[in-house]
Amino acid sequence: MKLKQNLAIIGVGKMGDTLISSLIKNKVVEPEQIFGTTSREETALKIRKKHQIHTGTDNIQAVSKSDIIILAVKPQMIKKVLPQILPELNEEKIIISIAAATSSSFIEEQLNKSIPVIRAMPNTASLVNEGMTVLCPGKFVDEEHLKLALKIFKSIGEVEIIHREELMDVVTALSGSGPAYSYMMIESLTDGGVRMGLPRELARKLAAQSVLGGAKMILETGLHPALLKDEVTTPAGVTIDGLMELEDGGFRVALIKAIDRATQKSRQISK
Ligand SMILES: NC(=O)c1ccc[n+]([C@@H]2O[C@H](COP(=O)([O-])OP(=O)(O)OC[C@H]3O[C@@H](n4cnc5c(N)ncnc54)[C@H](OP(=O)(O)O)[C@@H]3O)[C@@H](O)[C@H]2O)c1
Repeated sequence: MKLKQNLAIIGVGKMGDTLISSLIKNKVVEPEQIFGTTSREETALKIRKKHQIHTGTDNIQAVSKSDIIILAVKPQMIKKVLPQILPELNEEKIIISIAAATSSSFIEEQLNKSIPVIRAMPNTASLVNEGMTVLCPGKFVDEEHLKLALKIFKSIGEVEIIHREELMDVVTALSGSGPAYSYMMIESLTDGGVRMGLPRELARKLAAQSVLGGAKMILETGLHPALLKDEVTTPAGVTIDGLMELEDGGFRVALIKAIDRATQKSRQISK
């Protein structure tokens, strides 16, 4: 089912552009239902040519023509954009903010109106339709608003909903930053393969496909990762030696600490 609502995408940068591509490709909306804005006319023109949507540098006009407003500017721009679009907002419209470290209560306070605000944390894998988005509803959001947000973000991957906003810092540290951790793991596995004689391109493919395969096994079988690991670990075989080195290098603790540290950083920035 297509959305009937018009969408303003305030900030058609990396995430805004990705969202537009997926929404159009998956026929969630028609291009003419999207009003994208940017700070520069040249970017607006480029995006208009690419997607045949309405684009411009006028946030007020885009919001006036739209029912759902997606804030996809950098977090520091949110404070500037909100007062600008405020006169065009009413309780029939919905705001969805993807800005990191920006709480829905902060946005609600700035608006000082009973406007539904949903905070969303997508990740960069949205570019290849394998994104992970977590939604967190603000205090004026109902089930219908959430259904609309689910429809929008399902076009770029998986979506989950949480209701405790303080957990959005952990979400940011885990799935928001998650692709970067997997890039580092794949890079390191590749170097290991190269060190032992594999050509680099081949080593990178083997590493990336193994990480992708492992992730799919967990998601599709629903089995515990430890059980899957035990199944591929032959007594006195090859894998157990590799696993022993990972334990020795503090692999698990390093990952647990990474989430701890990144969560603390997100909390600090949110303040
Ligand atoms: N990238 C990610 O993986 C990711 C993941 C989760 C959440 N986020 C969040 O998504 C948001 C956007 O990130 P991004 O990576 O897409 O950033 P980006 O590529 O820099 O995009 C920001 C866009 O905002 C535009 N802009 C700047 N000022 C504006 C204004 N006053 N009115 C309208 N548009 C304006 C910029 O236009 P010009 O280029 O013309 O200046 C640019 O197109 C951020 O808040 C970030 O925290 C990003």
